[in-house]
Amino acid sequence: MIRVEGFYISLCFVSFAGETLCDGRKDGAVCYGALGGTVVLQLVDDASEIPRYEWKKEKAIILKVRNSVVISNKVDERFVFTPSTGTLMINNLNRKDSGIYTLVLFDKDQKISEQRTLNLSIQGKQLFFNK
Ligand SMILES: *[C@@H]1O[C@H](CO)[C@@H](O)[C@H](O)[C@H]1NC(C)=O
Repeated sequence: MIRVEGFYISLCFVSFAGETLCDGRKDGAVCYGALGGTVVLQLVDDASEIPRYEWKKEKAIILKVRNSVVISNKVDERFVFTPSTGTLMINNLNRKDSGIYTLVLFDKDQKISEQRTLNLSIQGKQLFFNK
């Protein structure tokens, strides 16, 4: 019994430690992150090609980017967006980060050109610390 439990815990450590990379470029993507860990979401490809986009959770806009410049980032410093790579890193994940996020892309005429949803699911127990 104890051996089985030990095995389970070491498996968790391997899969939950460190960063999880998730491709959020397809509509309806499901991404998993570990409680207390870090997830890196690929939101867009070539961000420089997109004049304007927003990333939101329900009605709350988390990120606004225009011409590859982050013009608004309403959340804490756990969220780090890198426009040149189109990736968003979320550190020290907590259960409240779970949910449905929507990426809204706008064209040159400020019209919505595309919307993509991403389901982020935070899982696991915090058994160890990420430094
Ligand atoms: C999001 O994904 C999780 C894990 O797969 C699932 O349990 C949950 O029902 C999904 N939520 C929605 C709204 O699709």
